[in-house]
Amino acid sequence: MLDRFQLVLILNCIFIWRWGVQLSKGEDIGWTDHGKPDQTVLDKSICADIPAVMPRVYSASITDFGAVGDGTTLNTDAFQKAIFNLSTYSDQGGSTLHIPKGTWLTGSFNLTNHFTLYLEEGAVILGSQDPLQWPLIAPLPSYGRGRELPGPRHISLIYGENLVDVVITGQNGTVDGQGSIWWAQFKSKTLDYTRGHLLELNNSTNIVVTNITFLNSPFWTLHPVYCSNVFIKDVTILAPLNSPNTDGIDPDSSSNICIQDCYVRNGDDIISIKSGWDEYGIAFNRPSQNIVIQHVVGETHTSSGIAFGSEMSGGIEHVYVEDLTILNARRGIRFKTAAGRGGYIRNIDINNVVMHNVTNAIEFTGFYGEHPDGHYNQTAFSIINRISISNIVGDHITLAGNLQGLPEAPYTGICLNNVSLDVIPGKLVWNCSAVQGFSMDVVPEPCTELRDENASSLCSAVCYR
Ligand SMILES: *[C@@H]1O[C@H](CO)[C@@H](O)[C@H](O)[C@H]1NC(C)=O
Ligand SMILES: *[C@@H]1O[C@H](CO)[C@@H](O)[C@H](O)[C@H]1NC(C)=O
Ligand SMILES: *[C@@H]1O[C@H](CO)[C@@H](O)[C@H](O)[C@H]1NC(C)=O
Ligand SMILES: *[C@@H]1O[C@H](CO)[C@@H](O)[C@H](O)[C@H]1NC(C)=O
Ligand SMILES: *[C@@H]1O[C@H](CO)[C@@H](O)[C@H](O)[C@H]1NC(C)=O
Ligand SMILES: *[C@@H]1O[C@H](CO)[C@@H](O)[C@H](O)[C@H]1NC(C)=O
Ligand SMILES: *[C@@H]1O[C@H](CO)[C@@H](O)[C@H](O)[C@H]1NC(C)=O
Ligand SMILES: *[C@@H]1O[C@H](CO)[C@@H](O)[C@H](O)[C@H]1NC(C)=O
Ligand SMILES: *[C@@H]1O[C@H](CO)[C@@H](O)[C@H](O)[C@H]1NC(C)=O
Ligand SMILES: *[C@@H]1O[C@H](CO)[C@@H](O)[C@H](O)[C@H]1NC(C)=O
Ligand SMILES: *[C@@H]1O[C@H](CO)[C@@H](O)[C@H](O)[C@H]1NC(C)=O
Repeated sequence: MLDRFQLVLILNCIFIWRWGVQLSKGEDIGWTDHGKPDQTVLDKSICADIPAVMPRVYSASITDFGAVGDGTTLNTDAFQKAIFNLSTYSDQGGSTLHIPKGTWLTGSFNLTNHFTLYLEEGAVILGSQDPLQWPLIAPLPSYGRGRELPGPRHISLIYGENLVDVVITGQNGTVDGQGSIWWAQFKSKTLDYTRGHLLELNNSTNIVVTNITFLNSPFWTLHPVYCSNVFIKDVTILAPLNSPNTDGIDPDSSSNICIQDCYVRNGDDIISIKSGWDEYGIAFNRPSQNIVIQHVVGETHTSSGIAFGSEMSGGIEHVYVEDLTILNARRGIRFKTAAGRGGYIRNIDINNVVMHNVTNAIEFTGFYGEHPDGHYNQTAFSIINRISISNIVGDHITLAGNLQGLPEAPYTGICLNNVSLDVIPGKLVWNCSAVQGFSMDVVPEPCTELRDENASSLCSAVCYR
C-alpha cells in the first residue's frame, strides 16, 4: 500500500505534469534569464516563458502539524511549525504544503525556499482578526517608514523574504484576510501602525501565483517588492468596493513580472506599479521594469484600472499593458507623481483597453502630494516620457483626459493613437497643462498640448508600431 507521502507525491506529480510538461526547461522554476533590460526595447516574452514547476520531493498536509480546519481554531503555530519543518527540505528537492478543504484560521506565517503552498478545492486560509497575529516588521528601505504611519508596519498574512522558487497554487482555494477590522481602524483613525498586505514577497525570485482567490486584504493585496521573475496568472482578487487601499496587485521595485488573466474587484487601484517614496526611494534606487500585463478585467469605484505611482522614485520603465477592461472606475489609466518624487516613468506601452463608465479615462498628475516626511527634495521632479496609449475605446466617460504636468518639468512624449472615447456631452473634454505629445485618430479631438507637431517624430518612432 502507498503511504500518504507517496500518494501525495503522485498527486503532486500529476498536477505538475499538467502544468509543466510542455514547459520544462532548466532546474527548479525554469525562468529564462532576461538579464538587464535593453534601454529601449521591452522584452514582451516574459509571459511566454511560463516557468516549469518541477515536482517537489517532500509533501505534507497542514493537518500533520495539528491544524484544525473548523474556522475557529487558531492555527498559527501549525503553519509556522509546518514551514519550519519543510524548510529543512529546501535543499533536498523542495516541499509542498497541502491545505485541504476546510477553513484554517491563522495569523501571519512565512514561506520558505523551493516550496509550494497548495490550496485544495474548498480550502480557505482565514486571516486572524487579532492584530497581534500580524506582528510588526521593519519598514521598507525604499519607503523609509510605514506607508500609512511612521515606524514599523504589520507583516502580511503570508510573507516571504530572500526566497527562491516559491509556488502558491492549487484548485482555486481562497486566502481571506478578513480585513474589515483594519478598514474600520483606518476609517476611525485608530490604526497603531501601517496595515499588512495579504501576500508580500520581499527580495525573492522565481515566484508563481496561480489559480487562487484572494479576498479582503487589510491593505494592498499582492505586493512583490525587490523581486524578479514573478508570474501571476488566473488569480481572482476581491474586496468590497468601499474598502480603503485594497489595491489588487502592486509590483514595487521589481522586474520581470507577468500578470495574466486576472480578475480584480476592489476598493482601490486594480494594478499599481511602484518603486519607492521620495528621498528613500531615490536613495534605494531600485526601478520597476520589464512588466507585462495581459487580459486583466477590473472594477473599482474609487480608483484606477492601471496606475503608475504615486510612489515611483526608483523609476518605472518598460511596461507593456494589453487587453485591459476597466469598469465603473474613477480613472482608467493614471500616472501620478509629485514634486519630491524624482525618478522617471518612461517607455510605457498601453494597448487595447476597453473602459465602461469611467470618470477620467486618461489622467496624468504631478500634484499627487503625500510625502513620507518634510525632508524630501523639493526640486526632485519626475521625468515622464515616451508613453504610448493606443487602441482605446470607452463609453460613458466624463472627462477624456485630465493631464496636469509640473510646470517645472513638463511631461513629454505622450503619444495617443486610435483612441475613441464616448464622452458625456456638455462637459469639459480634455484638460491639459504642462504636457506635450502627439495624437493620431483620437476622438474627441485632444487639447493642443497633445497635438504638438514637435512630438510627432518621437511618437512615430517610439510609439506607433
Ligand atoms: C517533519 O514532519 C514529519 C512528519 O510529521 C516528521 O517525520 C519529520 O521528522 C519532521 N521533520 C522535521 C525536520 O521536523
Ligand atoms: C517572518 O519573517 C520576518 C522577517 O524576516 C520575521 O521578522 C518574522 O519573525 C518571521 N516570522 C516567523 C514566524 O518566522
Ligand atoms: C526586505 O528586503 C530589503 C532588501 O533586501 C531589506 O533591507 C529588508 O530588511 C527586508 N525586510 C523588510 C521587512 O523590509
Ligand atoms: C536577497 O535574497 C538573496 C537570496 O535569494 C540573498 O542572497 C541576498 O543576500 C538577499 N539580499 C538582501 C539585501 O538581504
Ligand atoms: C484551477 O482550479 C479549478 C477549480 O478547482 C480546477 O478545476 C482546475 O483544474 C485548476 N486548474 C489547474 C491548472 O490546476
Ligand atoms: C476561482 O474562484 C473565483 C471566486 O469564486 C471565481 O470567480 C473564478 O472564476 C475561479 N477561477 C477559476 C480559474 O476557476
Ligand atoms: C458607474 O460607476 C459608478 C461608480 O463609479 C456607479 O455608482 C454607477 O452605478 C455606474 N453606472 C452604471 C450605469 O453602471
Ligand atoms: C534635488 O534634486 C535635484 C534634481 O534631481 C538634484 O539636482 C539635487 O542635487 C537634489 N538635491 C539634493 C540635496 O539631493
Ligand atoms: C482601434 O482600436 C480598436 C479598439 O481596440 C480596434 O478594434 C481597432 O481595430 C483599432 N483600429 C485600428 C485601425 O487599429
Ligand atoms: C482642469 O485642470 C485644472 C488645473 O490646471 C484643475 O484645477 C481643474 O480642476 C481641472 N478640471 C477638471 C474638471 O478636472
Ligand atoms: C516646436 O519647436 C520649435 C523649434 O524648437 C519651437 O520654435 C516651437 O515653439 C515649438 N512648438 C511648440 C508648440 O512647442
